[in-house]
Order: sequence, then structure tokens, then C-alpha cells
Amino acid sequence: MKQDFLAVSDYSPKDLQEMLDLAVRLKKEHFASGNQPLFKGKVLGMIFQKPSLRTRISFDMAMRHMGGDALYISPAEIGLGQRETVHDVAKVLSGYVEVIMARVFDHKHVLELAKYADVPVINGLSDYNHPCQGMADALTIIEKFGSLKGLNVTFVGDGNNVAVSLMHICAKLGANFTIANPEGYDIVTRAVDDARLFAKESGSTLNFIRDPHEAVKKAHVIYTDTWTSMGQEEETEKRKKIFPPYQVNAGLVAEADKDVIVMHCLPAHRNQELTDEVADGPHSVIFPQAHNRLHAQKAVLYKLLVG
Ligand code: CP
Ligand code: NVA
Repeated sequence: MKQDFLAVSDYSPKDLQEMLDLAVRLKKEHFASGNQPLFKGKVLGMIFQKPSLRTRISFDMAMRHMGGDALYISPAEIGLGQRETVHDVAKVLSGYVEVIMARVFDHKHVLELAKYADVPVINGLSDYNHPCQGMADALTIIEKFGSLKGLNVTFVGDGNNVAVSLMHICAKLGANFTIANPEGYDIVTRAVDDARLFAKESGSTLNFIRDPHEAVKKAHVIYTDTWTSMGQEEETEKRKKIFPPYQVNAGLVAEADKDVIVMHCLPAHRNQELTDEVADGPHSVIFPQAHNRLHAQKAVLYKLLVG
């Protein structure tokens, strides 16, 4: 049966760890002996309803490095759910490509694509989660600290799609996850309910608080993301008034563990959620983190295409 990659929460801790170990190995090979052409003859169809730098280019390059190819399908071209039903798009594309990646507004659309496609489907971000980002984030944390087990990972800002995948991978792999966000911007309840089960199994803790200063105490990782995600643009001005106390700046970073790393999935709104001083400072890992999208996604593609 085909396998999809729609959420880190769909995978066991063992499978996630195996994929991350594979990502470490593939990254090593990439810089040492070179990539094996394991995706030869395979084409990835990439459906985008929203803009992208990292997801688009890292998936395209992951396929090229491994001997395969990728096709960019623009929002205007396909009109997912508008020009044609999601069902019909899934069925038609399944006859042309070996794997599909989709970045959508409505999470239901990526679930529907996976349901009807005869080839594996990868979630390249929805309004609910961003699992490929979660994998690259875990890889980046592992490179710095060796594993997620027992670390304190703190998200400061909006309880958004990126926060959901980060919370789930932390809870699955034993990191203690804390989020500080303003009232009204909590992580959705169903994601929290799932995380509680995963944290119970891995023995980690979850904290949902309002005070960013309390949240970063003892943090090994501080993570932030945009205050306004794609699709919420009409709320930008309102959010700009609410979120400033949640800015990750040098003062906040100084309250965390002395070896804390600062992460951001990018694109960043510099000097809003993250100051230049921190983004370009000694604790920041934002660019290695972005580069790790390539290596983490090679491992995801390998799992779905090779097994
Ligand atoms: N982090 C991330 O997914 O970036 P893009 O929106 O540029 O793909
Ligand atoms: N939360 C952001 C992530 C962008 C990669 C958004 O959805 O726009």
C-alpha cells in the first residue's frame, strides 16, 4: 500500500527517528561521496497554492540530487478545487508522476489528495501543520544537541501550523515543549490533544503559557515564526498590535540557557518577530535550519519512494 507524509503525528517515534537517521546519512553522503541516483526515473509533482522559496527549491533539488526530477505546478494553472475537483486532480496526476507534494490553504485538500491519489502525497504546508518543516527542525536540533530527548524547546508567538508540527515532533521524540502565545492565538485543541498522548508515551512535558519570559527560562531552543501566516493577511495590522511582547530579541534570548539556539522556519519579518541582532547573532541557526529542509526531505522522499 502507498504511504503518504501528511503529518509527523501519523508516524511512530521509531519511524521518525529512522527517517532522521537517514537524513543525517544522506546529508553526509551529499557532502562526501555524493548522492546515489536512488530516485532515477521518478518525478515529483509539486502543487503550490501559496508562495514558497525553501519548500519549492529544496524539494526540486532533492529530486535532482538523487537522479529524479520535479515539476512545479502553479496555483493559477491547476485551480485546485476550483477549476477541477481535488479528486480529479489526484487521479489525473497519479498517471503522470510518482509522488505528489502539495502546499494548500485548507488542510482538508491535502487529506483529500492523499485519499484519492494512487501515488504518495507529501504535505508541503497547510493551514494546520508543516510536517516537512518539523523534520528539518528536528534534524537541526539533533545536529546541535545529539537528540531531542530531555531538551526544553520553547515556541514564542502564534500557535500556528509550524508550532503544531514542532510540538508533535517534540512530544514524539521526548523533548519538553513550551509555547508562549497571546490569548486567542492558541494551538488548535485537536493538535494539543494528540500531543498530550505522544508526550505521555515519550515521558516529555507540554506547557501552554502566556508569558514569553517564563517560557524561555532553561530553554535549549527558542523558536519563532511570523505573526501572520499566509492566508491571514487581512489580520496583519491587528496582529502587529498584539504580538510585540512576543518578539524574540537579545533580551529574551539572554534569559534562556546560555547555549540556547534560536530557530525560525523563515521567511522572517525582521525586527518584528525576530530582531536582526538575534537572527544574525551567535545563537541563530536559521540558515543551517533552512538548508536542512533539503536533507530531511530527501529522507522523506526515500521512505515513500524506496521504502
Ligand atoms: N519554511 C518554509 O516552508 O519556507 P517557504 O514558504 O519559502 O517554502
Ligand atoms: N506559518 C507560516 C509558515 C511559512 C513557511 C505560514 O503559514 O505562512
